[in-house]
Amino acid sequence: MQWTCSQNDSHRQRASQPLPAYKYLTQRRSPSQRTRTDLNSGTMASFVLFIFIISLLPVARTTKCSQCFNDGGPSCSVSVQRNCTNEEKCFGVISTANLSIDQSLTTSSARSCVASANQLTGSFHFDFGDKRTLSFDSEICNVTDGNCPWGLPGDSMRIYENGKSCPKCYRTGYDNCESDGDVFCVGDFVNCTEVNGEISNFRSGTKIPFAGKGCVSQSVCSLQGKSFQHGSYKFTFKKVQCSKANGALSSLRRLAFTLEKKDLGPQAAFFFPCILGIFAVKILS
Ligand SMILES: *[C@@H]1O[C@H](CO)[C@@H](O)[C@H](O)[C@H]1NC(C)=O
Ligand SMILES: *[C@@H]1O[C@H](CO)[C@@H](O)[C@H](O)[C@H]1NC(C)=O
Ligand SMILES: *[C@@H]1O[C@H](CO)[C@@H](O)[C@H](O)[C@H]1NC(C)=O
Ligand SMILES: *[C@@H]1O[C@H](CO)[C@@H](O)[C@H](O)[C@H]1NC(C)=O
Repeated sequence: MQWTCSQNDSHRQRASQPLPAYKYLTQRRSPSQRTRTDLNSGTMASFVLFIFIISLLPVARTTKCSQCFNDGGPSCSVSVQRNCTNEEKCFGVISTANLSIDQSLTTSSARSCVASANQLTGSFHFDFGDKRTLSFDSEICNVTDGNCPWGLPGDSMRIYENGKSCPKCYRTGYDNCESDGDVFCVGDFVNCTEVNGEISNFRSGTKIPFAGKGCVSQSVCSLQGKSFQHGSYKFTFKKVQCSKANGALSSLRRLAFTLEKKDLGPQAAFFFPCILGIFAVKILS
C-alpha cells in the first residue's frame, strides 16, 4: 500500500513540475522499473473499476411498491411492501367490470410492480353490449402516496350514443364468440374490436379464456399482448383487432335514399319495406 502511495506521489510531482528535456532523457526508466509500474497501473485499473462499479450501484436501486389487491372497491390498503426489479414500476389500476356470472358491476383496485411491457397509463374501455362492460384506469404510483391509484376522470359524454355501432358478444371459456347483434357506441368509443385472451388469478392456477366483440375507446386498440390487473384477477389480451366503427343507422338511411330515387313500379313499392328489412338484417349482423 505504501509503495502504491509513493508511486502516486511521484506521478503527481512529474505532472505538476515538467522536467527539462535533458533530465527527462536521463530519467528514462530501466526495463525492471517499467514492469513494476505496469503492475502498479494494473492494480490501479482494477481499483478504478471497483470504484466505478460501486458508483453504479445506486442506479440499480429498486423501487418500492406498496402492493395491494382489492376485489371490492376503488381503494386498496397495503398488504405487502415489495421491491420492484429494475425493469418494473409501481402501477395502480382502478377497474370496473360486469362480466362475471353474478351480473353485477364491480369496482376493483390493484397496485403492484409491473413489467415494462405492461406499463400502461390512461383509460381503456370496452362495451360488449347488454351492459357487459370492462374498463381500466392505470397510472404510475409513488410509494409515499398511500392513496394511489386515484382513478382518472371519465369522459362525461359516455351517457350519450354517438351514432356508431359494432357487432357485440361476450363469452368466457372460449377463444371466440359469434356476434349476437349490434351495440350502439357511446361517447368517445369510436372503434369496433374483436378481442380474446385469458383471465387468471394469482391465488389460483386456473386460467380461463374469454372472447368479446363490441365498441371500445381508441386506447384499447394498442392492448394486444398486454395485461391488466383487475383486483386480484389479471386480464391478458392475446388478440385485439380494431376497426373504425361506422354509423349503422346512417348507412341504412343512405340505402333507403338510393332505393327511393329509383323509379319503382307499384309492385316494387309493395316489396320495398321487405327488401329494406333484408338489407337491415344484413348490415346489422
Ligand atoms: C427491500 O429492500 C430493502 C433494502 O432497500 C430491504 O431492507 C428489504 O428487506 C427488501 N424487502 C423485500 C420484501 O425484499
Ligand atoms: C350486467 O350485465 C348483465 C348482462 O350480462 C345485465 O343484465 C345487467 O343489468 C348488468 N348489470 C349492471 C349493474 O350493469
Ligand atoms: C410522484 O412524485 C413525483 C415527484 O417526486 C411527482 O411529480 C408526481 O406527481 C408524483 N405522482 C403521484 C401519482 O403522486
Ligand atoms: C379507430 O377509430 C378511429 C376513428 O374513427 C380511426 O381513425 C382509427 O383508424 C381506428 N383504429 C383502428 C385500429 O382501426
